[in-house]
Parts: sequence; structure tokens; C-alpha cells
Amino acid sequence: MHRRTFLAAAAAGAPAHLHSATEKRGYSYPEIEKMLARGDVKGKLTRDDLPTPALLLDLDGFEDNLARMTRYAKEHNRALRPHGKTHKCPEIARALIKAGAVGACAAKISEAEVFAANGVGGLLITTAVIGKHKIERAVRLATERRDTIFSVDNAQNVRDLNDAAGRARIRFNLAVDLFVSGRTGIQPGEPALGLAQLIASLPHVKLAGIQAYSGGSSHVIGFEPRKKHSVERMAPAVETRRLFEKNGIPCPLLSGGSTGTYNIDSEIDGITELQPGSFVFMDVDYNRIGGQSGPKYEDFRNSLSVLTTVVSKPTDQQAVVDGGLKAFSTDKPFMPEAKGIQGIDFAWGGDEHGRLNLAKASAAVNLGDRIEFIIPHCDPSVNLYDRIYCLRGDSVEAVWKIAARGMSQ
Ligand SMILES: Cc1ncc(COP(=O)(O)O)c(C=O)c1O
Repeated sequence: MHRRTFLAAAAAGAPAHLHSATEKRGYSYPEIEKMLARGDVKGKLTRDDLPTPALLLDLDGFEDNLARMTRYAKEHNRALRPHGKTHKCPEIARALIKAGAVGACAAKISEAEVFAANGVGGLLITTAVIGKHKIERAVRLATERRDTIFSVDNAQNVRDLNDAAGRARIRFNLAVDLFVSGRTGIQPGEPALGLAQLIASLPHVKLAGIQAYSGGSSHVIGFEPRKKHSVERMAPAVETRRLFEKNGIPCPLLSGGSTGTYNIDSEIDGITELQPGSFVFMDVDYNRIGGQSGPKYEDFRNSLSVLTTVVSKPTDQQAVVDGGLKAFSTDKPFMPEAKGIQGIDFAWGGDEHGRLNLAKASAAVNLGDRIEFIIPHCDPSVNLYDRIYCLRGDSVEAVWKIAARGMSQ
């Protein structure tokens, strides 16, 4: 097997994330393609062998993020059920469980099905399962994975689930989804109690607890305003849990929290479980929110990026990379941020391209150079890729499938 050799100039001069096209390549593309198809990459391929645009995971940062969050949850006596909607990758869900998580949240039934089929248990589906076909899928999933928890916010849906479970001779575990921050859920307090009483009265459903996600709190800028926001939104959830128990309905679980509020919600008495997602990767949006000890949010590392190649240089001060609207999600007002080189302004250049203004770039950028970008918003960007390349330094250590990519049903 060939070993790659680098031209001395490329190895010495280029910043870590800006790689010169002048490198001599050791492998032909067909060889690389075969290795990628077999997953036979460790010790063989490097970042420069990857076809771009490519989704990269920095394993050192990722492992650090896992260790920090799992340690935090343990020290604060909270269960951790990280949200799988962020990564949609069974390897990552399994790594989290290995590190101490009790399972994984899934946004939709199709996402949960992929996790279950790949050995991930302890699933909490955070969106209600509505309609005959989705309920049939819920029966199939719960038959295989009895510990799955389904969110509900509607009495008829609870009755439909109860009837389906009765016919299938199973019992559904249900979490009452509370309307705490403007998305789904039943109103906290008496309306939620009514739903819990209905669940308690039916033979084929069982109350597992409460699902209460305050998404509006997670990106509030500044730790103190974020804390105030989350404490206000989560207080009715804690109250509702007490109300259930006062009325003789055991409510072991109150699941909530996010990457922005994990260290706020874990201080609130009555919240038993955290369900953050983005901390595994981080993104431009989360980098801005401010931390507990200062204006920078540094609790977790940026482990996720998109690797691109400069494919055109229209003028000295402009370059075009091969990553555009199909390589990054565009739901946020922030642009991808270049790693390893300062002063590059990114602008959308259409479906396939990104335009770079190099007027203030801290290093030269040439045709064929590879530039890595931190992603504006991790979840929807990951959903654009079939695989994630896991790097240790510059070496590709593994290739993981984004197996639940596109699973939004
Ligand atoms: C229901 C639910 N729980 C938890 C999360 C995780 O939030 P974050 O990725 O901000 O940590 C999300 C993200 O959108 C969510 O929808």
C-alpha cells in the first residue's frame, strides 16, 4: 500500500485547516472509494483524501463533549437522554449510552425506528404519534422496545393509543407533552392533569412522566437572561408534576433542557432528566449565547465542520468553495465560519457554492485549497449528509452513517 508523502512547503506552511492542493496524493480515487465503501479507513486515509463538501467530526472534541455532559448530569443527579435529532447517527447515540446516558430522544417515529433497529434503547419520542399508520408503527416499535416512551398532548390520541395497544396486547409508556414554550403540548396545570387522569384510567397505557422542552430558552443570549427565561418556562412543568402526584398519579419523569439550559434546568428541583442535543457538535448559533462565567460559551467544543475545496478564484480577493445551500442549512442569519484562517467572509453563492471575500484573510487562499467551516446550525445541516467522517487530528478514524438522515416522518 502506498504511503502518502507531502511536499515540504505544504506541510510546513499551511494552517491546520487550510490544506494546499500541492500535496502529492498517495492513493488514487478508486482506491479511496473502495476504502470508504468498506469502512477500511483507520490509519490509511486523511482529511485530504475526502471528497468535498464533507461533514467532519473532530473526535477529540466530540469525546470531550460527551465526557463533560455525562459527568455533569451524573454530578447533578439527573438522568441524561440526549436528543438524537441533532446527530441522527446510531454510533453517536450508542457512544452516549456507553458514556452514561439512559437512552436517546427521537423527534419522530421514523427516527426512533432507525435508532431501535441499530441497537439504541431507552427511546423517548418527543413528538406525538398521530394517525392510524403512525400508531401502527408505534405498536410495532413498542412491541420490540418495551421501554419506548411516546409523547401525547391530546385525549383522543391517548384513547387511540390505548385501543391499539389493547389489540396488540402491549402497553404504551406515555409522557404528557406540556406547552411550555410555544410549540406542541397541552397547557400545564388542570388540562395536563385531566390528560394524566385519563391515562391512569386506561388499561393499556401507563404514565411515564412529563415531556417539557422550552426551546425558546436555549438560545437566549447571556446566562442570567437565559436562566430567567428557562426558570419561568419550566416552573409550570414542575408545578404540574407536583399536581399529578398530589392527585395520586405517580410521575417519575420530568424531561427537559437543552444545550443552552442544561446547567440551569439541572438546578431546578423536580426536573429529573436532561435532553440536550447540540452539545455533541456545537455550531455558530450556540457559540454566541454566552456562558455562566463570561460572554463566551465554552462549555462544549466545536467538533463538527464542513470541509470544502476552493474551486474558483474569480479575482485576487475572491474565492469560491464547493459548499453552498446544499452543504449548510440556511435557517439562521449567521454564515459558516472558516476554521484555521481569520478574516474570511462567507456569502451564499447558490446551491453548490459559497463565495469568500478574502480582502482581510489572514493567509493566502489558492485554487484547490481545502477550507473547513463551522456550521451555522448543526441539526438541519447534518440532515444533508449521508455520512460523517470521524477524524483524529488529520487521520480519518471511522466513517459513520447518518442513518436517520431524512427520517422526518
Ligand atoms: C424536544 C427537544 N428536546 C431537546 C432538544 C435539544 O436542544 P439542543 O439541540 O438545543 O440542545 C430539541 C432541539 O430542537 C428538541 O426539539
